[in-house]
Amino acid sequence: MASYLQIADDEKGHELDLFCVPRHYENDLEKVIIPHGLIMDRTERLARDIIQDMGGHHIVALCVLKGGYKFFADLLDYIKALNQNSDKSVPLTVDFIRVKSYCNDKSTSSVQVMGEDELSSLAGKNVLIVEDIVETGRTMQTLLSLLSECKPKMVKVVSLLVKRTPKSSGYRPDYIGFEVPDAFLVGYALDYNEYFRDLSHICILNEQAKEKYKV
Ligand code: IMP
Ligand code: MG
Repeated sequence: MASYLQIADDEKGHELDLFCVPRHYENDLEKVIIPHGLIMDRTERLARDIIQDMGGHHIVALCVLKGGYKFFADLLDYIKALNQNSDKSVPLTVDFIRVKSYCNDKSTSSVQVMGEDELSSLAGKNVLIVEDIVETGRTMQTLLSLLSECKPKMVKVVSLLVKRTPKSSGYRPDYIGFEVPDAFLVGYALDYNEYFRDLSHICILNEQAKEKYKV
């Protein structure tokens, strides 16, 4: 089973005033729950674990857009650093897929996948899917079943966050950064109706902001 850093349900988080948060979001956030530096430190270790397991062969890293783009970029930088600084190294190529399943703060029952025709190029490859957060698990299970039709050699999934929620289908990724409480999180590319991707820290959204940015 994947190990992860657990953020407890009663975690108090950090006051916004202690960190740099964009002015335009100051009144929208409850607290900082994972500061950017901690995300980076945990990501560095995930890169090491992944290379230890998958490092024998060429890896295709598949970024799940849009929420996964920050984690993807930072994780790949750490993998590149390992490749540059050790005797063993592994070729890394990248691919992208766009998935949409959320409206406001609710997961909808339909998972829209865009760019799935590209997946056929993953046949016979070792694929690492890079995702921001797993909540019900529906998005990842949909993606995995699409991908299996393309017959990759191996598929592993890394998700920066996994939410502790009764809505979970029980699906768990191979690598997990943090397990987080059942709250709506934004920042570090996680969005609420496209807002808050331009925030470095992972924060809890307040109720007022859910109204303010509702569609
Ligand atoms: P699932 O299909 O329920 O596992 O949801 C996964 C997708 O929902 C993720 O890829 C995110 O895009 C989105 N999501 C789930 N929880 C959150 C959250 O707390 N903040 C932002 N996006 C979320
Ligand atoms: Mg996502």
